[in-house]
Amino acid sequence: MPARTLHTAGITGVGMDFPERRLTNADLEKMVDTDAEWIVERTGIKERRIVEPGTPASHHGEGAARKALEHARLTPEDIDLIIVPTVTPDMIYPATACLLQDRLGASNAWGFDLSAACCGFVYAMQTARAQVEAGFARRVLVVGTEVMSVIVDWEDRNNCILFGDGAGAVVLERLPEGEVGFIDSLLWVDGSGADLLKQAAGGSLHPASHETVDKKMHYLYQDGREVYKHAVRGMAKVTVDILERNGIAPADLRLMVPHQANNRIIEAAQRRAGLTPEQVMVTIDRFGNTTSASIPSALRVAVDEGRLKRGDLVVLCAFGGGFTCGANLLRWTAD
Ligand code: UT7
Repeated sequence: MPARTLHTAGITGVGMDFPERRLTNADLEKMVDTDAEWIVERTGIKERRIVEPGTPASHHGEGAARKALEHARLTPEDIDLIIVPTVTPDMIYPATACLLQDRLGASNAWGFDLSAACCGFVYAMQTARAQVEAGFARRVLVVGTEVMSVIVDWEDRNNCILFGDGAGAVVLERLPEGEVGFIDSLLWVDGSGADLLKQAAGGSLHPASHETVDKKMHYLYQDGREVYKHAVRGMAKVTVDILERNGIAPADLRLMVPHQANNRIIEAAQRRAGLTPEQVMVTIDRFGNTTSASIPSALRVAVDEGRLKRGDLVVLCAFGGGFTCGANLLRWTAD
């Protein structure tokens, strides 16, 4: 029997903030042995945004958070929990959530960072929702923010073409009685895939040393071909399963907002889930893979393009390092 919920939670605000600087595929052709057309065909990416040197994740995180608060018509003091999914925090600790609390002046909030790679936003949404539904928090700020450009090896053509910097944020809050927002989450982990996508050094297993630097172990490593296969299977499965177990026909879904890792992964998941291309949000062409920022920023673009209206059914889904995988099902409850 499902646990009794005391409240319902829904998104009331969404914002994004990206660096101005664009790195196009033509720019990449000058940096590594690649081809602009290859990148578009294999990934769907045309350009990505890159921060000015020295810009930490909290910078664009703050921008996205302020816009989400404005959309929700709230002030930072109204927030009582900040969750920051990220793989590129400003520092190992203190958590970027603490730095954001201070930058925003969110004087009534506690907070923490969440490590689930590209699935971070989906995991954070479930965590936030549980706090609101249980009555422990009334308004939660979830801020996915990444500076992927500092952990990318710009000599590795397999990976440097994929990633971008940026931030997206939502406000998830307790809804008036009788209103439905968040409906369900389906999440899993498969730690046997840990070695296929990782940043090996900098933790307690491989602390920073001359050797870890020389061996480029502080950069993101990915076996793209292997991860690709798992990602297609995982993203399709969680989407199909979450719709099925809630009795929702694919045609009744307004929008699938997937993590933006590769357009071919998104298309395969869309087809397997029985959805039309019009039911899927794609922003990878302009932003690349921004890890935990990709879903909240795609939600903001969906609102700006008039593709999301109050009451619409939405699925968020992601696959990432860990492996982590998951989906959230919700009705859209923001303006
Ligand atoms: O966000 C977290 C989850 N991450 C993902 O979901 C990413 C998953 N993986 C992918 O998106 C894709 O596997 C990639 C985009 C990384 C690669 O695409 P692919 O179609 O799987 O290419 P491939 O790895 O099979 O490589 C095909 C060829 C190779 O040449 P050979 O070995 O066949 O001679 C690569 O060396 O393309 C070559 N290649 C490139 N060519 C031009 C690899 N990178 C490049 C490049 N430019 N940048």
